[in-house]
Amino acid sequence: MIIEPRMRGFICLTAHPKGAEQNVKNQIEYVKSKGKIEGAKKVLVIGASTGFGLASRITSAFGSDASTIGVFFEKPPVEGKTASPGWYNSAAFETEAHKAGLYAKSINGDAFSNEVKRETLDLIKKDLGQVDLVIYSLASPVRTNPNTGVTHRSVLKPIGDVYTNKTVDFHTGKVSEISIEPSKEDDIENTVAVMGGEDWAMWIDALKAENLLASGATTVAYSYIGPSLTEPVYRKGTIGRAKDHLEATAFSITDSLKDIDGKAYVSVNKALVTQASSAIPVIPLYISLLYKIMKEEGVHEGTIEQIQRLYQDRLFSGSEVATDEKGRIRIDDWEMRDDIQEKVAQLWTKATTENLAEIGDLEGYRKDFYNLFGFDVAGVDYKSEADEMVQVESLK
Ligand code: NAD
Ligand code: NA
Repeated sequence: MIIEPRMRGFICLTAHPKGAEQNVKNQIEYVKSKGKIEGAKKVLVIGASTGFGLASRITSAFGSDASTIGVFFEKPPVEGKTASPGWYNSAAFETEAHKAGLYAKSINGDAFSNEVKRETLDLIKKDLGQVDLVIYSLASPVRTNPNTGVTHRSVLKPIGDVYTNKTVDFHTGKVSEISIEPSKEDDIENTVAVMGGEDWAMWIDALKAENLLASGATTVAYSYIGPSLTEPVYRKGTIGRAKDHLEATAFSITDSLKDIDGKAYVSVNKALVTQASSAIPVIPLYISLLYKIMKEEGVHEGTIEQIQRLYQDRLFSGSEVATDEKGRIRIDDWEMRDDIQEKVAQLWTKATTENLAEIGDLEGYRKDFYNLFGFDVAGVDYKSEADEMVQVESLK
């Protein structure tokens, strides 16, 4: 069928398999162009189908010839209805990995559940024996805790006071003021339950209990900090409490891995256009100004550039892993450069509906957003029929 983007609010209901395939191929080419990384050889990626997790899977496979198992939660296609983007990304990834002679298998289901953990442990046991790197890259609005059966929903709210600032509707380019009500009762607790470190620790405990972590194994989860501008709604808001918890969990996991000489890290990554970040008020305006400045300075990166640099210059550089005073890896270093943040802050006060297309990178924002769904990708013929029924090889 001919597949076109169909928008509803901030989400796109369709995805293009050819565009997704081209995106994955571009990421693979980028990793190959940067040369080999002396990294882990058996890798589990939890949240492997889009964003930073997909980039991690690609960097492990095509930078270090790693065998990868990817866990994700995506919608397969049905006749006449496209799959979710991560499904097509994973189909393309497996096809390319298999062509290159690399082991790649996937598990599609709820990573928070005991069942998906069980299935993953069994697959590792059967095919890989052990893993030496576990990337934890889930982004979800909801989690059912398998021990209590309670379903928690995360919220993106400030804590204490109403937060008022500018935001942009990136579809129309309209800049307006938005006020966000502060969190209530158990909003913080619920957000921490979804996006904090509890499930990460459960995964690592389960792997370790069955001797599936190799000696010296590393695990990495991703976090964000950002500028003071977005602090009330991000780092000092409900999601920030979850990130505090995730970061604290890295230390308790490292303690639990002492006997196998394992280590847990949190890597603080750059702000990027993803399905999740598009839904946070204020952030899209910040990102469109940030992109403009970072492109001008020649230091703009997407997910693949971020993760390739994380692997090559931090995790597997051959020297000790550099961290900040709180033990975190910082790959947001270019975003947070003083000169870049000063310029963004100046533009922020000026930004209006009339001038944003000029002083900000609204076009770049939109392009990245459409690219997430496989649209607006160079080299793809969108006027031709595309087969929506593309399958992930290992899930056939
Ligand atoms: P994403 O939405 O692109 O990826 C989320 C992944 O999680 C997908 O593979 C999805 O299938 C999977 N997933 C979601 N719920 C699942 C479930 N129940 N079971 C199994 N898989 C599930 O998100 P992203 O932006 O790559 O975020 C990954 C991490 O990086 C998050 O911790 C996020 O906070 C962090 N991060 C994001 C940014 C940013 O600007 N986007 C910046 C820094 C850090
Ligand atoms: Na991800």
